[in-house]
Amino acid sequence: MKANLQNDLLLRAARCEDVERAPVWFMRQAGRYLPEYRAIRSQHDFLTMVRTPKLAAEVTIQPVDLVGVDAAIIFSDILVIPEAMGMHLVMEEGKGGPRFPNPIRLYTDIKALKEIQAEKSLSYVMDAISLTVEKLNGRVPLIGFSGAPWTLFCYMVEGAGSKDFKHAKEMLFTRREDAHTLLGKIRDAVSDYLVAQITAGVDVIQIFDTWAGVLTPEDFREFSLDYIGEIVRDVKQKTNSRVPVIVFCKGANHSISEIAATGCDVVGLDWTIDIAEAKALLGDQVAVQGNLDPSILYGPEHVIEARVRDIAERMGSPRGHIFNLGHGVSPDMDPDRLRAFVRAAKEAYTVPAQ
Ligand code: CP3
Repeated sequence: MKANLQNDLLLRAARCEDVERAPVWFMRQAGRYLPEYRAIRSQHDFLTMVRTPKLAAEVTIQPVDLVGVDAAIIFSDILVIPEAMGMHLVMEEGKGGPRFPNPIRLYTDIKALKEIQAEKSLSYVMDAISLTVEKLNGRVPLIGFSGAPWTLFCYMVEGAGSKDFKHAKEMLFTRREDAHTLLGKIRDAVSDYLVAQITAGVDVIQIFDTWAGVLTPEDFREFSLDYIGEIVRDVKQKTNSRVPVIVFCKGANHSISEIAATGCDVVGLDWTIDIAEAKALLGDQVAVQGNLDPSILYGPEHVIEARVRDIAERMGSPRGHIFNLGHGVSPDMDPDRLRAFVRAAKEAYTVPAQ
């Protein structure tokens, strides 16, 4: 049985309920910018940490203790799904992160992908979630996540990071049916995975579509958003809408209202839109998260404070607002700048503007 949450600001903000202040957390808050993370990481490779519940739980909780955020996000990676579907995943230190030596290119590759049963094939993630929930002991909510089908598709087809997503786009435009077959398989896996995470104990989920912005608005709706919508509806239906859903599509400000229409509770924003404009489009039934340019954290404290206050002024009220960056924390950021952001965010709606 789960302990009652002592800090449920994130849940209330996501549901657009009354809050004393807006909650704050960071995408990629468990990571290399923290010396305490690097100390553990120096002993284990990334994938071992992801697969070892004790280590994953430990680094998940670090930013709660060390930075003062209002939520934890389970330490993992988006690529665990394709791995569970049967793709061989390797991580070579210093070579730009994990990659798939045998990317998906042919119809036979798509056909060979397995349907997953997340509770079994990704049981190490569920174990990490239960252990983290136990260790958090109700201090803050735990966020579960998945990559969106389009972002996973890109990595599965490219096999590694890419500048132009040539192979992924080639499949969209020359073999549209194959692309939809693959996206459909990924959608089913993501849905199953998110439901399993909720069963294992997460309080909120976020869907990351980091590469939404490489598509035209029309292609975004066909190859990305429709699938996200199906996932949101499926997860809500299978879990009685217990858990709020955040959808973050980076570079898709052309479709803010359509993202909200998926039925998600929170729309994540990158930094290329005025948050007041997003709020005006979304109304008061959908919450907004993010929007601060992550590079602000390279600036001095007074600049960070001013930018955080500026966001609060544009929002006007903490209701339906979650402070975050417009993308993840970079490994070279100074943890003190994140602490400054957290301090400023916690005061933003209580201290009058100068
Ligand atoms: O907020 C969160 O903590 C969410 C978890 C998350 C991670 N990566 C953790 C991680 C998410 C949503 C991602 C996204 C991701 N991961 C993408 C989509 C693009 C993006 O940047 O959002 C892709 C393609 C991956 C695969 C991946 N994982 C790469 C390319 C790398 C190396 C990048 C780097 O920073 O060197 C990783 C490693 C990774 N994923 C780390 C973390 C915290 C770094 C861990 C480490 O090296 O110690």
